[in-house]
Amino acid sequence: MIKLNFNQQIDQGKITQILADIGADPMGGWMNLPQEIDINELMRIKEAARKITEEAEYLVCIGIGGSYLGHRAIIEALAPKSEVKIIYAGNSLSKRELDKALSEVGDHDFSVLVISKSGTTLEPKIAFEAFKQKLVEKYGEQAAQRIYATTDASKGDLHDEATANGYTRFVVPDNIGGRYSVLTAVGLLPLAAAGVDIDKLLEGAANAMQDLNTPAQYATMRAYLAEKGYDTEVFASFEPATMYFNEWLKQLFGESEGKNRQGILPASVIYSTDLHSMGQFLQDGRRNLWETIINYPTDEMNAKVVLAVQKAHTAGGIPVLSITPESYDEKGFGELIYFFEMACAISAKLQGVNPFDQPGVEAYKQELKQLL
Ligand code: PA5
Repeated sequence: MIKLNFNQQIDQGKITQILADIGADPMGGWMNLPQEIDINELMRIKEAARKITEEAEYLVCIGIGGSYLGHRAIIEALAPKSEVKIIYAGNSLSKRELDKALSEVGDHDFSVLVISKSGTTLEPKIAFEAFKQKLVEKYGEQAAQRIYATTDASKGDLHDEATANGYTRFVVPDNIGGRYSVLTAVGLLPLAAAGVDIDKLLEGAANAMQDLNTPAQYATMRAYLAEKGYDTEVFASFEPATMYFNEWLKQLFGESEGKNRQGILPASVIYSTDLHSMGQFLQDGRRNLWETIINYPTDEMNAKVVLAVQKAHTAGGIPVLSITPESYDEKGFGELIYFFEMACAISAKLQGVNPFDQPGVEAYKQELKQLL
């Protein structure tokens, strides 16, 4: 069970309506996912992960945003053991980064997992072309057997290519958007290949489904703070390995809430490291922010720093919320994923914005298209 350090009164009638709206939303498919996940799909995922670990020393995971951050967050946090080394590509347009990934794979045996719902996103497209060429050079006609693609169910360039060439294909369900997709094949396949126990992850998420009051309390607190003029939320973690979980959180909240000239700006810090850089601002700077500590109780020393920071920053005049997961393992992260997805959807609804679209992301793409 996730524990909060505050007890926020919720408007039960409003929350019940919001939950009904989310459930009825065409993009609300993630809501019951932990309990409704298709067993056959899960078996296919595990089988593909097993094949990858047998055939490859490296798995190149290509994707960006919601097609990348969730699984990287869990892999970095848990550092699971696996026969296959996971590397990432297609999450920027930097040629240096792409060349680095290509040369890291070098002459090793490798497979490629490309993840894109739209199938048209430029970053993964470019990286996929480069790695496909490398696969063909190394494996010739057998190259397609080493390509795994997670695509839209029925449309898009990647879907069409995967179907035409017989890549092993998985689906991002129509009713689940990128940043809510980590518990679908999008996240589960790379996680399983990396050695994460995906059954336990789903079990943790299913546990979190039993308690919608806690995310509703956190969401209500966020809306309350925003109304009081706090427009920035700083996610604070004391475990460096959870840096990518912070990144996942920023995407989830930023893309879900930042629209119609509204939203709470999500920022993040890793303590105690950032106490020596951002600590001054947090303690003493402009008071437009609050801090949400994700309190992974991992060791005694860290627990003491958490208390010290809580005391100091509260005295410095910023609201300090804390969220404590049950454990630092697959179950704990499964719980956190579902908790934050639910809290984010409720919070966006409380602020009157649609949590499931991202119209603003298109603007830069159009500009880039013109330039290219
Ligand atoms: O949350 C989202 O919808 C986005 O972050 C997408 O996941 C991201 O833009 C990648 O899109 P796609 O999977 O279509 O390549």
